[in-house]
Amino acid sequence: MKAKAFIPSVSFLCFWVLLGLGTSGLLQSDDADNELGRYISWEDLSVAKDFRRERNLKHDNGVGQEYLAPAPSNDEDGSRVIVVEKNGRGDSVTVQGAVDMVPEGNSQRVKIFIQPGIYREKVIVPSTKPYISFIGHQSYVGKTVITWSDKASDRYTNGSEIGTFRTATVRVDSDFFCATAITIKNTVVAEPGEIGKQAAALRITGDKSMLYKVRVLGSQDTLNDESGSHYFLKCYIEGNVDFIFGNATSLYRDCYIRSTAEGIGSIAAHHRDAESENSGFSFVNCYIGGTGKVYLARAWGTHSRVVYSNCYMADVIKPSGWDDWEDKARDSEVLFGEYNCTGKGADRTGRVPWSKSLTQDDAKPFLGMKFISGDKWLRLKTSDNKNSQWSI
Ligand SMILES: *[C@@H]1O[C@H](CO)[C@@H](O)[C@H](O)[C@H]1NC(C)=O
Ligand SMILES: *[C@@H]1O[C@H](CO)[C@@H](O)[C@H](O)[C@H]1NC(C)=O
Ligand SMILES: *[C@@H]1O[C@H](CO)[C@@H](O)[C@H](O)[C@H]1NC(C)=O
Repeated sequence: MKAKAFIPSVSFLCFWVLLGLGTSGLLQSDDADNELGRYISWEDLSVAKDFRRERNLKHDNGVGQEYLAPAPSNDEDGSRVIVVEKNGRGDSVTVQGAVDMVPEGNSQRVKIFIQPGIYREKVIVPSTKPYISFIGHQSYVGKTVITWSDKASDRYTNGSEIGTFRTATVRVDSDFFCATAITIKNTVVAEPGEIGKQAAALRITGDKSMLYKVRVLGSQDTLNDESGSHYFLKCYIEGNVDFIFGNATSLYRDCYIRSTAEGIGSIAAHHRDAESENSGFSFVNCYIGGTGKVYLARAWGTHSRVVYSNCYMADVIKPSGWDDWEDKARDSEVLFGEYNCTGKGADRTGRVPWSKSLTQDDAKPFLGMKFISGDKWLRLKTSDNKNSQWSI
């Protein structure tokens, strides 16, 4: 981090200036935040090559099963790396085990480097552990899988149902979480109209999360994008009923959204309840495909807000496009919009009249990083990378 040497001198200068003004409270400047790494950058989504080579060398040296788990080590950028390896050659054999190794209230990024394998477990990243990365290998996204199979109608030993929110295979309650090159799955399959089969793969309630090339697989209620500002880039999300739901403020860019609906289904169900709230789901440059017809969104909240821009929609969208949750009052309160979308599914001839065809000006607030206040927590200097979109 080249900026490090620079920041102290700025702080030093500020110190004298502020001392002169007698306003010590202002010492919590943006620079101080940056020094603590309080933003997500590409470095947070990768493990340095040298680190990988060192690990591989040890594996290839014939040490094999005798290999002793090394103490957690550091990546080039100084962040701690914890290796998860099913066969016991890393620091932990489970993902949760690695999360448990992170101290409460940590102030530095910790990269959990997950080696290929099927990890059958539920994982919780508690709110007390910010700055955690889940990192797989870019060439093994589909082979690095965290999977479980809880559904809403499952019961605790005391008899009460666990409910949808507690079904998530991976639940992230902390801020500044990011993940790449892994698959998160809930294997429960909901047949059309089945009760109690809500089964989330991922739930995020933490603020400021970025997911890059993550696959989120499920059936009903796959991704509980619950609250906070989130950036989903080049992700693959699959399901049938309300499979992206919650009340977050999220930008889905270059994502592959795949419907497996049979007869009934919806991509999104957004839960905004008042005009004053800034939450919403914005899909930009996404590919919408799959095998079954779905709504673009249903109005879970009275002021639900969902916009699709520059998307390709295959013939999997119900002609009416949008659903008001059987509450006519919501027709005039929701913001359901489409801008510059193409493909058979984007034909607006049969759309409900209360959905909107947006102009470029209307769409503008939903197109960029501003929608998720990205300037405040994302530092993605270089362009994403050369890999073609949707190729995951
Ligand atoms: C049953 O147990 C769960 C999990 O411990 C708890 O959250 C829930 O409140 C309990 N329900 C009743 C009725 O005690
Ligand atoms: C939705 O999120 C907003 C913040 O953007 C919050 O004020 C509101 O309470 C949330 N509503 C629901 C239904 O969760
Ligand atoms: C319309 O969407 C396409 C992608 O399908 C994009 O390449 C093009 O720039 C968009 N046009 C405008 C005016 O935004």
